[in-house]
Parts: sequence; C-alpha cells; structure tokens
Amino acid sequence: MKRALASSLLLTLAIAGCSARRSEPVAGPFQAASPEVQRGEIVFDRHCSQCHPGGEKGIAPAINNKPLPGFLIKFQVRHGIGAMPSFSREQLGDEDLRDVVRYLKALRRH
Ligand code: HEC
Repeated sequence: MKRALASSLLLTLAIAGCSARRSEPVAGPFQAASPEVQRGEIVFDRHCSQCHPGGEKGIAPAINNKPLPGFLIKFQVRHGIGAMPSFSREQLGDEDLRDVVRYLKALRRH
C-alpha cells in the first residue's frame, strides 16, 4: 500500500517535471521598453490574443518562440495563411502592424 502511494507520487512528480514550459515568468513579467512596443502590445491584445494568447500557443501556434522575420509576420497578418484570418489596412493600420512586430520581437528577446 505504502509502495503504491510512493510510486504514484513519483509518477506525478515525473509528469509535472516533464511538462512543457508555460508562461511562468522566468525573467519576470514582460515590461515594454518603449512606447512603440507598448502600443504594439495593446494592438496585439486587441487583434491577436484571442488566438495567440500573449504570443503563446492557443488555438493558433505559439509565435513568441521562433525567429520569424518581421516581413513574414506582416505577410501572415495581411494575407492570413492557413486557418488564420487576414487583416486589411482598415482593420489594422500599417503603424499598428509595425508596432505589433516590434512587440513580438521584444517578447521573443524577453
Ligand atoms: C482567429 C484566430 C487568429 C487571429 C485573430 C490571429 N491569428 Fe495568427 N494564426 C492563427 C492560426 C490558426 C495560425 C496557423 C496558420 C496555419 O499555418 O494554418 C496562425 C499563424 C500565425 C503566424 C505564423 C506562425 C508560424 O508558425 O509561422 C503568425 C506570425 C501570426 N499568426 C501572427 C498573428 C498576428 C500578429 C495576429 C494579430 C494581428 C494574429 N496572428 C491573429 C490564428 C489567428
């Protein structure tokens, strides 16, 4: 009985230890370093976060963990490859998109 308990405890620990890293702030909470990045965060929260929560994997893949160049991010947003909807300039202005890209790059460095 005691052994069964101990091994199930070990199993739980092993599973917990192997689970993928989540958003635990390893480097402290994200702090926007410039007004542009801060604006980008607001725009991202409004337009992107429902599918990419905080840049992490939601119903869409994570985008805070890969070195996507800015033009690819812009292309993805304007043309909506795959299951992602596209965003027109009326929905999301060029300046807003530029700030979103800055925000995502800052998030990745974080
Ligand atoms: C309605 C949900 C939804 C919204 C809103 C959304 N996305 Fe996406 N996004 C997706 C999905 C789904 C994919 C995966 C597309 C595929 O490859 O099929 C994706 C993929 C991406 C990729 C490519 C990721 C890769 O691995 O190459 C980028 C970059 C991206 N999104 C950025 C954004 C940005 C920036 C916004 C806000 C302007 C946004 N997305 C809003 C659903 C969404």
